[in-house]
Amino acid sequence: MRVVRAASALLRELTNQEELQTEARELLGDASFELQRELERPCGGVLLALREAPQDREAAGVLSFLRVTEELHILAVAVPRAAQRRGVGRQLTECAMELARHEGANAILLEVRRDNVAARAFYASLGFFCFNVRRRYYADSVDALELVLALEPGAAARFLPAIEV
Ligand SMILES: CC(C)(COP(=O)(O)OP(=O)(O)OC[C@H]1O[C@@H](n2cnc3c(N)ncnc32)[C@H](O)[C@@H]1OP(=O)(O)O)[C@@H](O)C(=O)NCCC(=O)NCCS
Repeated sequence: MRVVRAASALLRELTNQEELQTEARELLGDASFELQRELERPCGGVLLALREAPQDREAAGVLSFLRVTEELHILAVAVPRAAQRRGVGRQLTECAMELARHEGANAILLEVRRDNVAARAFYASLGFFCFNVRRRYYADSVDALELVLALEPGAAARFLPAIEV
């Protein structure tokens, strides 16, 4: 598997674009999630985990992001259920870290629902920690945890671990 930054042409060539988008919508609980729109966001981008199959262009996962000043914000990471727990999400996020460093960002930020136990364990395994809790942030009143991964020691000082109670 390899992770690439997607362009419109690559999206069109994906053999499982529809399936990926449909399952990503379910996994993210966001019926409006659209790969092409993620790609077209100003200062945004999409990383795709492509399966190694010479005749085929099939994606095993997707990550979308925004560049915001000296930070990279991860908007979504989705790995279809059949491909989970095989390191796809980790590879996508590590690639986002490389990209962030390459573009001069010093921290990666994201929001996760407090009740998304799997995603919280996933991000914790990559070194993210919670620096802020947005109470009752989502439409169903679940809190949002704001997580950060500092890419430089200087950036780490800007974020203090929050008490998640
Ligand atoms: C969260 C998500 C992206 C993880 O992707 P993945 O490819 O399955 O994760 P990986 O295989 O790279 O896991 C890396 C590590 O994260 C942790 N982890 C991942 N999924 C986990 C789970 N369900 N429970 C506990 N820990 C988990 C583990 O430490 C894992 O390492 P291990 O498998 O060696 O124990 C995937 O579960 C997903 O798409 N979830 C639905 C969408 C979502 O919630 N996205 C995040 C919010 S934007």
